[in-house]
Amino acid sequence: MKEELLQIEKKASDEIETIRDLSELEQFRIAYLGKKSVVASSMKQLKALPPEERPEAGKLANRVKNRLQKLLDEARNRLESGKTLDDSLLDVTLPGREPARGTLHPITQVLKEICRIFVRMGYSVLTGPEVELDYYNFEALNFPKDHPARDMQDTLYVSDKVVLRTHTSPMQVRVMESQPPPVSVIVPGKVYRRDSDVSHTPMFHQVEGLLVDKGVTLGDLKGSLTSFVHQMFGKDTSLRFRPSFFPFTEPSAEVDIRCVICKGKGCRTCSNTGWLEILGSGMVDPEVYRFVGYDPEIYSGFAFGLGIERIAMLKYGIDDIQLFFKNDIRFLRQF
Ligand code: PHE
Repeated sequence: MKEELLQIEKKASDEIETIRDLSELEQFRIAYLGKKSVVASSMKQLKALPPEERPEAGKLANRVKNRLQKLLDEARNRLESGKTLDDSLLDVTLPGREPARGTLHPITQVLKEICRIFVRMGYSVLTGPEVELDYYNFEALNFPKDHPARDMQDTLYVSDKVVLRTHTSPMQVRVMESQPPPVSVIVPGKVYRRDSDVSHTPMFHQVEGLLVDKGVTLGDLKGSLTSFVHQMFGKDTSLRFRPSFFPFTEPSAEVDIRCVICKGKGCRTCSNTGWLEILGSGMVDPEVYRFVGYDPEIYSGFAFGLGIERIAMLKYGIDDIQLFFKNDIRFLRQF
């Protein structure tokens, strides 16, 4: 009984510290001092003890009971006067601690901005697989086997027939395969190439765009992309369409914007050309329609592929692409 009482005393004095309101305190009272409490039953057991043990046990039981009562009274005083801590330790005038809030990664922010612009023009957003069949990444995009254009992209192979997609263009084929025209989609996502320096990382992000309908022209491509550039970089950003080659578009064009760093005077970022490439584009090659069963006599369309890191670097004036993936909090906090 003695042991038990001492244990109860210890447990109660620990527990009283954690009590935060009067209803918790009432539960404490019932548990430790109520009619069915351990203390109450010890009191009753006293009578059963041999007479010579009674005085000592009685003393202890009384002492514990008084101690618990005292703890209870003190806690009640403390709660009723609204104090939970020693006043001298608590300065209620101090400003609170601000929780450290995260921000979206700059790549995510730019990706969302790009999607927002195209969604406003009526495109829907889709995503596709990063581990892709050679068929979709190359074959159906009119890169025949052993075609030198395959070397343009340093492909990471998973197996003979499976690659990590080197661009988001395979989704052009997947989308057209799965639905009849008209089509207007954008596809953001990760792509992979064997490449790594200040302007290349083995993984980076692209946004693919595809629009196919009756009577779509090169003028539509130019108009849509010009509108995009103006919304992304500001109305007075000049741009130019430079003839290029992709196996899956004909004709093809790359789009450059006036260098955002030197405004066209020539600097390191633009290798003194005054222009910066931001995307590849072109009219969908009739050969691709053959793979997906669209009739090129009836339908035409355009496609484009934007590099997100590239656009983020230009938008924020960042000169090292690796910064996006180092997760240095001092860098990320600036966005
Ligand atoms: N997929 C091409 C690349 O990664 C870009 C592109 C997309 C070009 C769509 C034309 C049409 O370089």
